Amino acid sequence: MPVTKKQLSGKRVVFGVGGSIAAYKAILLLRRLTDLGADVEVVMTTSACEFITPLTFQTLSGHPVHTNTFNPDDNMAHLRLAENADLILVSPATANLIGRFAQGMADDLLSTIILASHAPLLVVPAMDGGMWQHPLVQQNVKTLRETGVEILDPEFGSLASGHIGWGRFPSEEAIMSSIISLLTMPGDYHDEVVLITAGPTHEAIDPVRYIANRSSGKMGYALAQAAQKRGAQMVLVTGPTSLTPPPGIHTISVTTAEEMRDAVHKHFERATVVIMAAAVADYRPDQPAKTKLKKQGREQVSLALSPTPDILTSLSAQKSGQFMVGFAAETEHLIEEATRKLKAKGLDMIVANDVTKPGAGFGSDTNAAVVLDAHGLVADLPLMPKREMATKLLDLIRIRLNQQK
Ligand SMILES: Cc1cc2nc3c(=O)[nH]c(=O)nc-3n(C[C@H](O)[C@H](O)[C@H](O)COP(=O)(O)O)c2cc1C
Repeated sequence: MPVTKKQLSGKRVVFGVGGSIAAYKAILLLRRLTDLGADVEVVMTTSACEFITPLTFQTLSGHPVHTNTFNPDDNMAHLRLAENADLILVSPATANLIGRFAQGMADDLLSTIILASHAPLLVVPAMDGGMWQHPLVQQNVKTLRETGVEILDPEFGSLASGHIGWGRFPSEEAIMSSIISLLTMPGDYHDEVVLITAGPTHEAIDPVRYIANRSSGKMGYALAQAAQKRGAQMVLVTGPTSLTPPPGIHTISVTTAEEMRDAVHKHFERATVVIMAAAVADYRPDQPAKTKLKKQGREQVSLALSPTPDILTSLSAQKSGQFMVGFAAETEHLIEEATRKLKAKGLDMIVANDVTKPGAGFGSDTNAAVVLDAHGLVADLPLMPKREMATKLLDLIRIRLNQQK
């Protein structure tokens, strides 16, 4: 009888297990993964071995379990596992592991593998509700998410401590669905060089003051990470933000609209897709003062402004097949303004959001937007996490790239 290929055949998973009471649930997950054909090697922390024996994982995975960085029989395991993995899964992830990953520490085998690997990392936290809600844990989760790590939110329910609250290990179905989607993510951007701009620009008034806007850069960074995961060669041109540059992405940091224009033009020719998600200042002070402006009396002060270079218009003039996407942050007449900008700037697609809507403005982790192309409205995307919106926008772009071919 012919052997049928299973859904995860050929996929290599490094499965990290932390010292949580939920460690026993890792056994069921391991079973599900191997049933689907995945080749799984388990790495246990020293604390995890207090909860469950390596022998159980060894028997189910068919591989020796790794518990120690310094193993004379396999002293390069950390690099081999890091380089060969299609996915690193840490489940359950303790508060301690999340903190150590967020600090970039490599003081045990699991954290060393994570630092040495470019594979997607999926973290499934399990801890008491109080620990999960601690500001330091939340800060670490935020740091990891900003660097492109997938972290599942714990669920609400009864906890091992006897309390009811947030911190409950997510359901097996939710974890499996994330694993499968990360392992079977389409590599449909492999042939694309994607140039993305993100964040605000700062235009100097004097050496200590500047004109800026409320853009956080989160939408542009989410797009860059999503395109990278789908195989794109990425260039990210970013204005000043508090976000950490995503690992593995060629990131160019700029401050002013003029610097952003120069950086974008430098990479425009080889780009196949250009997504301008930055909120570039429209005006800048005419003549920034060389020294700090002093407060003199109480008289009114006015600032003469002149237009900044219009990056989209100058790019459109040099367009040679690039698929160009613009963003429009509006406070009124959304569709009309987006349609006008689409035509005026020679764009292939525009994403417009009403920044006055709760959850859809600058700085939030969510967004809601309408998407238009030359034929009119193509999608009305309701409020959703920016990471999810990035995936939906890349899907819409992909369909149009395929039509051009
Ligand atoms: C019975 C017991 C249950 C525990 N459960 C958890 C847990 O669910 N989540 C967590 O973050 N820490 C939990 N801890 C604490 C961790 O085991 C401890 O922080 C340890 O240092 C984690 O090591 P690791 O992150 O290297 O696995 C538990 C400790 C004990 C004694």
